[in-house]
This record gives sequence, C-alpha cells and structure tokens, in this order.
Amino acid sequence: MDKPLKLKVAIVGLGYVGLPLSLQFARSGVPVLGMDVDVDKVEALNDGRSYIKHVSGDLVAEQVKAGRLEATADFARVNEVDAVIICVPTPLNKNREPDISYILQTGRAIAPHLRSGTLVALESTTYPGTTEELVLPILEKSGLRCPIAAGLENENIPADYFLAFSPEREDPGNKQYGLAQIPKVVGGVNPPSGRAAQALYAQVVAKVIPVSSTRAAEMTKLLENIFRCVNIALVNELKLLSLRMGVDVWEVIDAASTKPFGFMPFYPGPGLGGHCIPVDPFYLSWKAREYDFSTRFIELAGEINTSMPYHVVESVGEALNQHKKSLKGSKILVLGVAYKKDVDDLRESPSLKIMEILQKRGADFDYNDPYFPQLHKMRHYDYSHMKSVPLSAETLAKYDAVIIATDHTSYDFGMIVDASKLVVDTRNATRRVIRHRDKIVLC
Ligand SMILES: NC(=O)c1ccc[n+]([C@@H]2O[C@H](COP(=O)([O-])OP(=O)(O)OC[C@H]3O[C@@H](n4cnc5c(N)ncnc54)[C@H](O)[C@@H]3O)[C@@H](O)[C@H]2O)c1
Repeated sequence: MDKPLKLKVAIVGLGYVGLPLSLQFARSGVPVLGMDVDVDKVEALNDGRSYIKHVSGDLVAEQVKAGRLEATADFARVNEVDAVIICVPTPLNKNREPDISYILQTGRAIAPHLRSGTLVALESTTYPGTTEELVLPILEKSGLRCPIAAGLENENIPADYFLAFSPEREDPGNKQYGLAQIPKVVGGVNPPSGRAAQALYAQVVAKVIPVSSTRAAEMTKLLENIFRCVNIALVNELKLLSLRMGVDVWEVIDAASTKPFGFMPFYPGPGLGGHCIPVDPFYLSWKAREYDFSTRFIELAGEINTSMPYHVVESVGEALNQHKKSLKGSKILVLGVAYKKDVDDLRESPSLKIMEILQKRGADFDYNDPYFPQLHKMRHYDYSHMKSVPLSAETLAKYDAVIIATDHTSYDFGMIVDASKLVVDTRNATRRVIRHRDKIVLC
C-alpha cells in the first residue's frame, strides 16, 4: 500500500460493499464521509454501531471516535471530498432487466455539488458502458468535463474531474482474503482518470491492476461472475445425472480436485444465491441484445440454476412418497435461509424459492437459521410473519422431512439426522454422518 495521500473520500451506499470499504479507508488513515439514503444506517454509523453481522461494531466505533468515519444523508457534502466512490445496488427489475436507477439517482444527487478535480469511481456491478454512457452525461450536468479518451496520445488530456470504474470483489464471510489482499482492477474514462483511481485505491489495497478503459473494468467483473455461474450450473447438471446413475458427485469433485492444474472445484447446491452470481450475468445478456448477440452460456446456466429449487422440492416429494406421505399437508423444516453458510445475507437465497414452491404445493413448513431469528419483507417475497424455530431433537422429530438448504458450520448434522424422520440434504452436509444413513436423501 502506498504512503497516505492527504485526501477525504465520500463513499455512497453503505451496504455490504460500502461499509467494509469505508472502514478500510478509515483504518488506512483516509477520512471517510459515508453517504446513504437510509437514515437508520447513517444514525447507526454515527453512533459507532455496525448493522452487518460480519462487520465489527468495535471497529466502526473506533473509527468514528477517531474522527475518521462520519455518515450523512446530505449529498451536498460531496463538495468536501476529493474522491467519491459509488457502491449502490444494481438489482434486476421484475422483468429481469438491469435496474440502474440507484446509480442514476446517485449521479443526480452528487452532480450539482461536484468540485473541480474530484475523482468519481463507480463500484456497483453493471454492464460494460454504464460509466461512460450513463454516469458521465449526468455528472457533466455540473458543467465540468471529463473527455472519453484512450491511448498514449491522451496520457495528459485535460479533464475538470476524473471518472473511473473499479469492480468490487468482496466475498462476504471469506476469512482468507480480506479487502486489502484482493487486487483491485481499475479503468478510467481517460488515462488521467485511470491514474487518479489507481492512486486512490493504492491507499487501501496491496495491488491495483490498471486496465485500459471503464468498459474493460466493467466486463472484468462480469467475466468473473459469469465464470462462477456457468461452472455452478455445470456441476448442478452433472449432479442430476450422477444421482440418476448412482454416482456420488461430491466424491467425484473431490477426486478431480487433486489434479494440480487445469481444474477448479465448484459445488452443486439448491440453486444460486447472493446478490451477485444470480443477477450480474443478466446485465451482460441484456446489453448483448443491443449488439444482436445472444449469450447462450449465460442463458443455459440460468435455466439450470433456476430449476434447482424445483428439483429440491421434487426430491422432498419423492422421499415422502417412499414413506407413504404426500408433500401436501406434510410438515417440513427448512434448515438455513442464508444463501450460503455462515453469512447473514439472504438475498436471492434459493431457500426462499424452495419455501415458495413448498407453499404452492400445500406443504406446511417452518425454517431455522441462527442468522435470521425472524424474516422480513423482501423485494420478491414476504415471509415477515415467520420466525426461526428452535433447533432441538424434540422440534426436529415433529417434522415429516427436514431440508438442509444451508450448511451453517454451527449445525450439528449428526444430531439433526439422529432426531429427524427424513433428511433431504442439498449440500452433502451429512457426508460425515455415520448413523442412520437410511434417513438421508442427497439431492
Ligand atoms: N455484496 C457483495 O458481496 C458484492 C460483491 C461484489 C459487488 N457487489 C456490488 O456492489 C454494489 C452494492 O452491493 P451491496 O451488496 O453493498 O448492496 P447493499 O444493498 O448491501 O447496499 C447498498 C446501499 O446503498 C444504499 N442506497 C441505495 N440507493 C442509494 C442512493 N440513491 N444513494 C445513496 N445510497 C443508496 C442502500 O441504502 C444500501 O445501504 C452492487 O452493484 C453489487 O452488485 C456486491
């Protein structure tokens, strides 16, 4: 990391990406003004509290106390800073098309207050072209100019302000790679913007990787996520075949993983979850249509991954059938609503879809998740009436079937199998359970 520059940074959007990034800057000695439309988050931060489980409240309190972290909902204060980093959501809308309204809102909110010489860096995952085609024209309403230019002849092209894209690569809950250890890809709309963004991020990460344009940086993030999405779809499909053939796909993946080159393991599961992998690839397929191009791998992977929660419910129905029971009217417990183990994030979680399908098929279901004592209303689902049921041998015994949807480390799978009548395991979480294997259905 480089020697600290004297600067102040605004970070817009204080969620899973923006909050850890704010802390990283603050800890590196760069004062941060966090900005969010959610006044509860602003208040919590100014009180020195964290609202994200894996972000330490002590760390927030320490930085607030030291005067290096402050939050506000007043976007006019952008005129106090040297750089603005935008980390607002980029979901899909009802028609599964990009919803870039949050980026547009942010652009409109900051443009009137932008000072000459300020760097604006977008981090929200989006399709190639967003920074140049959407953010730049909005920011230029400020009267400041930042020309789109590339190549050696434009190394020192004059610009009133600087504009760049740098994708976020945060992996929530990953203890091996923290923000500082993950190289940061950076592309500017012109060479001076690229250099300004490199200097900014060198304050907080060990390695900055420059690319030639914002489009290249935007596409890099999509390649990374499409790579995961397609490979997860591949193992999900191979799992379906393996189940039919009586082959243990998890054993096969472990064996293939011993190849020291050319193979990287991906694991099957109940479907895709999280804010990124189920969403981001469709930003590219949407944009590709403008070029009369169909992204077939993305569509196929989407089709397979989307079918997985249906496969889980089919498997539960089939397993109950073996016990002379029907899905309709059976009592089912879903273990884990978080989209992956040990995180308090349920965005796009396949468990939510599984619960929706169970409901439609007339099953009577509950859930347990140590990270979610109760559920709230979400964009596509409303389970606000549901509370996590306590996990005990007596509770488990009341259900006709238990679905392991998320393999949280805190779950005692031996106890779960012992106490349950039937366990449908979507993650091979019971691989080490020896007793009562006849109760387990891998799916
Ligand atoms: N969560 C991840 O692991 C992850 C990883 C890589 C990339 N990303 C990308 O980063 C971006 C942010 O994701 P996130 O997970 O942090 O989302 P999030 O929902 O956790 O946080 C977004 C924050 O932005 C705020 N916000 C919404 N509209 C705003 C506006 N107009 N002005 C200011 N603040 C506003 C929200 O109140 C919220 O606090 C998305 O584009 C996402 O695809 C996320």
